[in-house]
Amino acid sequence: MQRSKSKVKDKEAGKAKEKIVLAYSGGLDTSVAIRWLEERHDLEVVAVSIDVGQPGDMKANIERAKGIGAVSAYAVDAKQEFAEEYVWPALKANAMYQGAYPLSTAIARPLIAKILVDVARKEGAQFIAHGCTAKGNDQVRFDVSIGALAPELGIIAPMREWVMTREEEIDYAKNNDIPIPVKKACPYSTDENLWGRSCECGILEDASQEPPEDSRAWTVSPQKAPNKPTYVEIGFEKGIPVSLDGEKLGPVELIVRLNELAGANGVGRIDHVEDRLVGIKSRETYECPAAVTLIKAHQSLEGMVLTKDVLSYKRGAEQRYSELTYDGYWFSPLREALDAFMDKTQEFVTGTVRVKLYRGNADVVGRSSPYSLYNEGLATYAKGDEFDHTSAKGFIYVWGLPLRTVASAYKVEEPAAKAASKAPAKKPSKKGKA
Ligand code: ARG
Repeated sequence: MQRSKSKVKDKEAGKAKEKIVLAYSGGLDTSVAIRWLEERHDLEVVAVSIDVGQPGDMKANIERAKGIGAVSAYAVDAKQEFAEEYVWPALKANAMYQGAYPLSTAIARPLIAKILVDVARKEGAQFIAHGCTAKGNDQVRFDVSIGALAPELGIIAPMREWVMTREEEIDYAKNNDIPIPVKKACPYSTDENLWGRSCECGILEDASQEPPEDSRAWTVSPQKAPNKPTYVEIGFEKGIPVSLDGEKLGPVELIVRLNELAGANGVGRIDHVEDRLVGIKSRETYECPAAVTLIKAHQSLEGMVLTKDVLSYKRGAEQRYSELTYDGYWFSPLREALDAFMDKTQEFVTGTVRVKLYRGNADVVGRSSPYSLYNEGLATYAKGDEFDHTSAKGFIYVWGLPLRTVASAYKVEEPAAKAASKAPAKKPSKKGKA
């Protein structure tokens, strides 16, 4: 950053300080960052705490940030927007990175970036700061999203720049009267929002070890879950969940309730060795009870309503969608185009899915839709069969024709026959002669 010379000039000219908008979590790192940004970069810090469904008191965060020295601080409740504009599109795409991770952390990053940009514009700030380290995906997601929305803004990631250990950070906090958040010592690094909880570090870095119970917070151990299933009926409209057990619910409440129901049955535990964008394989564990349940239910309803062609083409698009979301390309033309495709496929994904939650499993046990392509009259082996049995033979004649044509045209020798033709001609046996 080329700031120091102009900084001195600005001071001499009595110019106002430049501003930076910081994504503030209330934790130690971003608390230290407030003071560090002021000291090191001579910036005024505007702190923004964004509620995407994680625990913590956003209002208390505002007070803490101001106490540390932020010139202003915002608390933004973004839960509804997160659910409607990020979670639901991901659900329509059945988004699962590497078939395992419902991208809970990944989809919140672009929204947080967007809110930071909004505040930066409102405050006339020149910079945005976030508390990501240099080894993760989240720094990429923030930087790329901010760049896509506001390329004119500079980005500072204090934790990518400073060389403080945890202990040095605590010392810095003590020396600068920065209140150290009183949190139960947690041996893990976690990130939470409505769509799930991510957990890494500590003993989890040994990928051969089973994740200990103390790394879980949203789910009970399936061994300790009730020995009696919980059934839940999820109503969908155009691919979006709208009710639980017949009760219409807003998106936030529906997800929160389902996290509780499924989590109490041990559903949604994920243990994944994943490929980070920065080239590192890392072991991450997740708890995503609602996400796992809803994706299964949604896929099942799609299986009943969508044609075989759409289903198969969509699987490929879903994988691409998941990868670009993971890789920080949310605000990209491709994601927007894929969303348009996904939306088109969801026109008739309306109906009800019954899911059995039981000891770590969420099994779809029933589904129905006014647009179902499942036709009992065609499917049945019992009375009332509507399928025209006489058509089968002709259909198979045509379907198999290309392969029968290949069989007669290619005339490939069988390996055994080939070997026999290459072997030297056998001498007639003496016995035979005699
Ligand atoms: N590996 C996940 C991702 O990149 C989650 C990272 C979240 N951070 C954490 N502290 N566990 O989306």
